[in-house]
Amino acid sequence: MMRLLVTGGAGFIGSNFVHHVVAHTDHHVTVLDALTYAGNINSLNDIPEDRISFVEGDITDEAVVDELVAAADAVVHYAAESHNDNSLHDPRPFLDTNVVGTFVLLEAVRRHDVRFHHISTDEVYGDLELDDPARFTESTPYNPSSPYSSTKAGSDLLVRAWVRSFGVRATISNCSNNYGPYQHVEKFIPRQITNILRGQRPRLYGAGLNVRDWIHADDHSSAVLTILDRGSIGETYLIGADGEKNNREVVELLLTLMGQPHDAYDHVMDRPGHDLRYAIDSSKLRVELGWEPKFRNFEAGLASTVDWYRDNEQWWSPAKDATEAFYAAKGQ
Ligand code: NAD
Ligand code: DAU
Repeated sequence: MMRLLVTGGAGFIGSNFVHHVVAHTDHHVTVLDALTYAGNINSLNDIPEDRISFVEGDITDEAVVDELVAAADAVVHYAAESHNDNSLHDPRPFLDTNVVGTFVLLEAVRRHDVRFHHISTDEVYGDLELDDPARFTESTPYNPSSPYSSTKAGSDLLVRAWVRSFGVRATISNCSNNYGPYQHVEKFIPRQITNILRGQRPRLYGAGLNVRDWIHADDHSSAVLTILDRGSIGETYLIGADGEKNNREVVELLLTLMGQPHDAYDHVMDRPGHDLRYAIDSSKLRVELGWEPKFRNFEAGLASTVDWYRDNEQWWSPAKDATEAFYAAKGQ
């Protein structure tokens, strides 16, 4: 049994991780989350009370972080500003949370010698051409494109420096695009599902040919637990499930699954600096640590995600109008 401190545990992937930990281990979880617009306490509603403590607080708050880290066996750090479009509009919170927040956590785990796992993204590697046979590996050079991905790259580099200079016991994982329940309606897949549920047409940026490498959030969680368990200190592991699809394919699949004509979508203004393609080679995690994804059928995973949004309108509808107003103002 471990006492895990999970930052950002009321967000999309953090809450999926908490559900996964409670279902598959006897660890106790303390969630530290600032409940920004992206955090939703209702994502943790059905976790038994004896398995979880919730602290509303900011990872840049040194006093709060110090006390919680001192009481933990390991920290799993999900908290971040996570949306590229927001980072283009207002980068400052990305610097504060992603860079300064990670620094504050690193100083605390250094003081208390607590194991640290840092959650990061494949976007730190930049993008690939559509016809490039290459995929990202742990040795691909960093080349981030957006304010979001550059702050995540900065946070990864801080972790590496704290391992080397101070002997902090940390690992890093860089994962591809997640889908599944509890994802905010600002993100691509939930935005299109909830548009269709409301009788509105999906919105594709530009030509819709950009490729993302989709993984179910539950597979991300099992990979993180595997790294926490058996990963080597100082190492980076890429997490992916061989799920490359272009955005047009995803929208057409969603429309078909939801009983609409496959071409009932609109093209809207493209994202400035829009990364073309991400693709992950997760051989290191699979060969060295024996991890495998369970969700191998994207269409089935997407269908169960559609069902979740259909059944949980009270979870997503409070955020929908403001999110669409933000996009409408940008012609998206
Ligand atoms: P999210 O935006 O859904 O959730 C982020 C959570 O962090 C929210 O609950 C929010 O309230 C909390 N938070 C934000 N600022 C905070 C602060 N200063 N102090 C405390 N809590 C704060 O994000 P997500 O999509 O779940 O992403 C989680 C992590 O996974 C991020 O580090 C992200 O970079 C990484 N990641 C995401 C994806 C993806 O596809 N979404 C893929 C790879 C990696
Ligand atoms: O690759 C991992 C990253 O995946 C994470 O680090 C980020 O936190 C996460 O948000 C995600 O970043 P993306 O920018 O790839 O995700 P997003 O859901 O915003 O967009 C996915 C793709 O869909 C992207 O090519 C942009 C496009 N898109 C997005 C929206 C919101 C559309 O075509 N229409 C839309 O309405």
